[in-house]
Amino acid sequence: MTIREKLRFGWLTLTWSLRVGCAVHLVHDYTYEFTETRGESMLPTLQNYFDYAHALKKYKLGRGIEMGDCIVAMKPTDPDHRVCKRVTGMPGDLILIDPSSSSPLTNTPAEIVQHDGFNKYIRIPEGHVWCTGDNLSHSLDSRSYSALPMGLIIGKIVGANHLDKGIRGYLDFRRIKNTFIDEE
Ligand SMILES: *[C@@H]1O[C@H](CO)[C@@H](O)[C@H](O)[C@H]1NC(C)=O
Repeated sequence: MTIREKLRFGWLTLTWSLRVGCAVHLVHDYTYEFTETRGESMLPTLQNYFDYAHALKKYKLGRGIEMGDCIVAMKPTDPDHRVCKRVTGMPGDLILIDPSSSSPLTNTPAEIVQHDGFNKYIRIPEGHVWCTGDNLSHSLDSRSYSALPMGLIIGKIVGANHLDKGIRGYLDFRRIKNTFIDEE
């Protein structure tokens, strides 16, 4: 290659990497995200380690989100952190906050006193959803930070891959489904 050709090649590589970089960035910002999820709150739907969730951004800000959907959102108490939860209440729904927090089966008498007030109903305000982890006994969710503003919703989780065994994990794609069954 002449110097001229090398320069041209370098320039093309640079512009193409910039274009691909921008495209990846745009895709990440507006359409799709593949990120690691951690924690036991969504067991057994999402594993506590090495699980990567596929999230669609067209559901950002809660647009088109339905009862029973799995979402990724900014944590209301800490916007630097994200949460993966299930939508278990829609705007206007009446919710019994946490009846289990006053159950002597799972709480000590002191805890029951401490949880006083959780065993009550609230109406979910407009622009908010109720969200809980599928693993109720190991989840910090709307039962503690109350209804989640839809503005914090980043996307809807539609699938996941468990990547503990490296690249092979890409083959075992699991669909994450809506679990809500409307009897009517
Ligand atoms: C909830 O999390 C705990 C702690 O990781 C675990 O032992 C339990 O099996 C989980 N529950 C479900 C339903 O997966």
